[in-house]
Amino acid sequence: MGYVDWSEKYTVHDPVMDGHHQEIFRIINDLHSAALARHGKDMLGLTLAKLIEYIQSHFTAEETVMRSHAYPGYPAHKAAHEKLMRKVHEFDHAFRHSTEVAAPEVFAFLVKEWLFNHILGMDMDYAPYLARRHALAKDTLVFSV
Ligand SMILES: [Fe+2]
Ligand SMILES: [Fe+2]
Repeated sequence: MGYVDWSEKYTVHDPVMDGHHQEIFRIINDLHSAALARHGKDMLGLTLAKLIEYIQSHFTAEETVMRSHAYPGYPAHKAAHEKLMRKVHEFDHAFRHSTEVAAPEVFAFLVKEWLFNHILGMDMDYAPYLARRHALAKDTLVFSV
């Protein structure tokens, strides 16, 4: 068991997005273990950078999917992503400019809280919308055959 474990309750019923969320959980676990093992700041910095980069690329991918499905909640969702990214960059800046190497533990906790709230809240909201669109697309395909 990791520090955070993905389970069915986090599914947004989209295999690509679920895969991204699972990878984020995995990197949070890496960061948390590295912080507990008191890895050096360089090593922690690398895992932190990897996490930040992955979160950013996931947000971009999610926004692309929402836009391509004309999801009405897109503007608010994008704004929430931007707010989260600002918090992430603020932490990253503080980490890089301090001598406190235990801080990534705090960050792992914060990211876990932010992402859990975000996935279980806003990400869940797009799930039924996307599922309906997928079903509609399938129906159209069957109809046109
Ligand atoms: Fe997400
Ligand atoms: Fe999201």
